Amino acid sequence: MLKKTGKVWLVGAGPGDPGLLTIKALRALENADAVVYDRLVSREVLELVPAGATLISVGKSPANHPVPQEDINQLLIRLARAGRQVVRLKGGDPFIFGRGSEEAMELVAHGLEIEVIPGITAAQGCSASVGVPLTHRGLATGVRYLTGHCRQDGELDFDWDGLSDPDTTLVIYMGLANIDEIVTRLIASGLQASTAAIAISCGTTPKEQQLVTTLQSLPSAAKAAEFAGPVLFIVGRVASLHGKLGVRVDNAVMELSDAALV
Ligand SMILES: C[S@@+](CC[C@H](N)C(=O)[O-])C[C@H]1O[C@@H](n2cnc3c(N)ncnc32)[C@H](O)[C@@H]1O
Repeated sequence: MLKKTGKVWLVGAGPGDPGLLTIKALRALENADAVVYDRLVSREVLELVPAGATLISVGKSPANHPVPQEDINQLLIRLARAGRQVVRLKGGDPFIFGRGSEEAMELVAHGLEIEVIPGITAAQGCSASVGVPLTHRGLATGVRYLTGHCRQDGELDFDWDGLSDPDTTLVIYMGLANIDEIVTRLIASGLQASTAAIAISCGTTPKEQQLVTTLQSLPSAAKAAEFAGPVLFIVGRVASLHGKLGVRVDNAVMELSDAALV
């Protein structure tokens, strides 16, 4: 008998709201017989996995990696070689701060077939959810996605002068632990302390929290907020459009009194 060939779909689960999954992602989930998923994949998305499929959690958090990356790679290889239709489900987009490309390279190196299904990254999901565009004529000519966390908690060795461009929106992923240092370096490199800034926790989910403040107040306000889930920062003049685009913002905490926003 011919052995069934396995395949791995690297699928973006989006930022949490299951309505933000692509149709392709939904079809891949419905046809999967094994789903290997990360910590940030929401319960509502996991509920879309068919009852007969094997669900395997390999959840990681910045300081806590219960399943080492090498073991995840080996697990995917084993499942695909056993002929399984495997969905590797990652929060947001698998190719944005998601190590999807590393997994893809490993699978391809082992001769396995893969397919990538993009997801809505946290920047896009949160931007829409809080009603703040990442670019806007006259306010931002570009946008940069930045990781606020380096390998093995190493030093943040960034191009601070380049990052402090007032015409660019900065979207900072995984930045909560280092937000003090990030803000200090941006201000020292010339970004105005009064630049508008927003922190979004659990964006696009019922637990979403929005904190609207200025760059200089961001570290203390974010600490005081005691966010319980993933946090994304949006820094730049576009953040001053919060509340002006007709998007519901009744879950927002406003801390705007200390400076005129730029
Ligand atoms: C390892 S990165 C994964 C990013 C993911 N691949 C993506 O495209 O969104 C995890 C970080 O994404 C951000 N993040 C993901 N989902 C989020 C959400 N629903 N709300 C706020 N931030 C989120 C947080 O900064 C979190 O620390």
